[in-house]
Amino acid sequence: MTDTRDIGTIAGVREMQDFSNGLRGEGKTIAFVPTMGALHDGHLSLMREGKKHGDVLIASVFVNPAQFGRNDDFNSYTRDTDGDLKKMTAAGVDIAFFPRSDEIYPPGYETYVDVTELGKPLCGRFRPGHFRGVATVVLKLFNIVKPHAAVFGEKDYQQLQIIKKMVSDLNLEVEIIGMPIVREESGLAMSSRNSYLSPEEREKAAYLSLALRQIKKRFDGGERDTSTLVKEGYVVLGGGSIGEVDYLEIRDGATLRDKALAAPGDVAALAVRIGSARLIDNTVL
Ligand code: PAF
Repeated sequence: MTDTRDIGTIAGVREMQDFSNGLRGEGKTIAFVPTMGALHDGHLSLMREGKKHGDVLIASVFVNPAQFGRNDDFNSYTRDTDGDLKKMTAAGVDIAFFPRSDEIYPPGYETYVDVTELGKPLCGRFRPGHFRGVATVVLKLFNIVKPHAAVFGEKDYQQLQIIKKMVSDLNLEVEIIGMPIVREESGLAMSSRNSYLSPEEREKAAYLSLALRQIKKRFDGGERDTSTLVKEGYVVLGGGSIGEVDYLEIRDGATLRDKALAAPGDVAALAVRIGSARLIDNTVL
């Protein structure tokens, strides 16, 4: 059944702040799901969860230039405002916030947030400045939308840890909720970037989650040596023949520090480039 409910849209920063101040003034709670659009079932699961955490659900769509490097896919990143609006309506979003880039980063903008240690390993090593861009825009969006709770996907595991740390370090009064990865039938983690994959590349991409499952299986079977576990994962990835492996590592689930011996709660995480897509995935041991 098509949802014909009206969804409110807001583009102005001041308008969004006034709207949220009004809600708070009425004693209403705000749940928030920030996105970069190109919405898929993973995003929709965040929105459905968001419904449970506030009287009003706000979702934003903003392709944040500050988190893309010079060689990243900022220009080619999928933009589909009409499609996103339909999906947000169906997922129960009350207000869709579409800020303009020149309002988020006006000329002369110069303030950035850096979560220094958590931003260094894994994707931080291959995408310098990426997490600084993420933390900055998330803090700005929190200051504009003023949520009581915000929902993020666990596929971006490092991003989620960084946001939690920023919220704790900066005493922000926002509850951060992480939601499990939503996967396609093949095991491929849902991602807006999966749309870059050809059918053959999609088949290869299924090996990413297989590699992580193999690591988890060996961990559950008692193996604790991280280099042995990682080697097993590389075997599933065909020693890199599936695509260019940026990293496949096991790290402490909270601090993301390197470990010689794996323990429950650690995370096995990988990033692999297949064609023009850079895909990430993870599993918590
Ligand atoms: O996960 C994303 O889509 C983005 O990194 C986020 C959190 C919306 C910030 O731009």
